[in-house]
Amino acid sequence: MVQTIGTEAPATGTRYGRATSGVIKAKGVHHMAWVTNRMDETVRFYTQVLQFPLVVTLQLPETDPFPGAVWGNLGGAKHYFFDIGNGDRIAFFEFHEQLPPSYAEMGAGNHIAINVETEEDLQAARQRLIENGIPIKHDLDHGFCHSIYFDDPVNGINMEFAVWQAPCTPEEPFLQDWNPTPAALDHLGDKQTKHLLHFAVDGQGGDFDTDPGPNG
Ligand SMILES: [Fe+2]
Repeated sequence: MVQTIGTEAPATGTRYGRATSGVIKAKGVHHMAWVTNRMDETVRFYTQVLQFPLVVTLQLPETDPFPGAVWGNLGGAKHYFFDIGNGDRIAFFEFHEQLPPSYAEMGAGNHIAINVETEEDLQAARQRLIENGIPIKHDLDHGFCHSIYFDDPVNGINMEFAVWQAPCTPEEPFLQDWNPTPAALDHLGDKQTKHLLHFAVDGQGGDFDTDPGPNG
């Protein structure tokens, strides 16, 4: 994981924006990502109480496909997204590591993803970051979105720019978890069989084969 805080932090008074070939066209929050030790209870609360439809389910392979993209080992973890209206989503990682009992103690979310509308806009944002000396930690095609990850070099906050590649809506969810939690299965109903996709073996996104199976 590229560590840009500490010795590599920009000096006080650093000026950015001198580069002109890259342009950031931000279109709101793509998703905010949180972490949980209890995914099924999380699904219950968000779908049943808050009425946020579950629109992406990922069952990550045993070997973490995104090592270092976010804190923790994501091997074997579930990664679910909920639609919060207005085209925005929030996401949860199921962490194996013991978490503090409350987010107040944790003090932060995991990362924030800012939406861009097109792949060209994502590449322009990437260019602008590079030209300003901000390392791109990861460039990942997730199948449902294409993401670049970087750090706020001042505060070390995990950030992401992302462009949707699939609808990820209640009508057309992106479902890749072949063994969803009971509450997720209950919430999804026949969508689970209609929309189930594979997670690519290399972890670089999903394909659109509808034949479910634990090994993709
Ligand atoms: Fe993300």
